[in-house]
Amino acid sequence: MDSAPNNNASAKDRFRPSQRFGLGGVAIGNAFRPTTDEQAQEAMEGAWAAGVRYFDTSPWYGLGLSERRFGQFLHDKKRDDYVLSTKIGRLLKPSKNIPKTIWKEPSPFTYEYDYSAAGVRRSVEDSLQRLGIESLDIVFIHDLSPDNGDMKDKWTEYFKTAQNGAMPELTRMREEGLIKGWGLGVNTIEPILRTLEVADPDIFLSATQYSLMKHEDALNRLFPACEKKGVSLVIGAPLNAGFLAGIDRYDYGDKIPAGFKEKRERISKIAQKHGTDLRTAALQFSAAPAVVSAVIPGTRSPVQAKDNVASMKAKIPAAFWAELKKEKLIAANAPEPK
Ligand SMILES: NC(=O)c1ccc[n+]([C@@H]2O[C@H](COP(=O)([O-])OP(=O)(O)OC[C@H]3O[C@@H](n4cnc5c(N)ncnc54)[C@H](OP(=O)(O)O)[C@@H]3O)[C@@H](O)[C@H]2O)c1
Repeated sequence: MDSAPNNNASAKDRFRPSQRFGLGGVAIGNAFRPTTDEQAQEAMEGAWAAGVRYFDTSPWYGLGLSERRFGQFLHDKKRDDYVLSTKIGRLLKPSKNIPKTIWKEPSPFTYEYDYSAAGVRRSVEDSLQRLGIESLDIVFIHDLSPDNGDMKDKWTEYFKTAQNGAMPELTRMREEGLIKGWGLGVNTIEPILRTLEVADPDIFLSATQYSLMKHEDALNRLFPACEKKGVSLVIGAPLNAGFLAGIDRYDYGDKIPAGFKEKRERISKIAQKHGTDLRTAALQFSAAPAVVSAVIPGTRSPVQAKDNVASMKAKIPAAFWAELKKEKLIAANAPEPK
């Protein structure tokens, strides 16, 4: 694993996790299929044993379930030994009428959007209670984005609320020393570009936008804008929600985009030829750009956690990346892992 400190000069004043590889908490919150408490604890323990010290979760994941599981796992760890990010934007309320969401067997809560200043303070307080810890490192404003089915083109109205509420409040919380950094956690590029224009963020979680399968827009529009402001990116869904680990599921929708299975097959074959594998290539690819401060695949088992750490440590021959570029399977200007 690349455990070298993050010391990009242009970003030196903005918080970056000390480790470039972390664990994402979507599967821990029962995405795709239920996970038992025991399996979730084992997955987190496996990640810890393999050396992972950056964890990302959200009130949204399993409607509180992921945060409670992380709390169970982290409560006896020294707070300075790990970095933790969670998110704000949805306040949870206990309810018998659990809404239909992507979560399988979630906790009995419903949710309300709140991107106001008071909503941020309330959400952070609620998260700390669920997590059973005294502080957060990074807070991401969650799913303030046109791909959020609850918002669609109304996302700009929510954005205005956040611009006047959540964003300045998070800056104040950073100045008060309550958090180390903040940004958005979103699956599209537009809201990040807009936030860079109107606020003072430190770090964004960009999911589904920088993977082996899809990366041109992030490379050409997102990265330069972040670099200009010295802001870094945590890459979420580096495996496209399991697709690049060989699962027939792409991101969080029902459909796999046309031609993607064939492209995956071609990359996989070239990887084998060069003595590596698809998942290893995918994780290292997403971690390679200097603007990326961490890559955080989700994990459901200790074996997956261990394998993903091994993937980050593996040596991939430069000839593999050259062949992907020659075959136009990845963009010519995509940074290659060293
Ligand atoms: N808007 C946002 O802020 C946002 C959006 C998306 C993601 N994120 C963050 O990014 C993290 C990563 O995204 P993700 O978890 O959704 O997707 P991902 O990392 O692209 O894929 C995770 C899934 O891939 C499979 N997998 C992982 N390692 C594997 C291995 N070694 N062998 C076989 N299969 C493996 C598992 O599928 P199974 O569970 O089926 O075994 C796992 O749940 C999230 O957990 C979250 O922290 C944030």
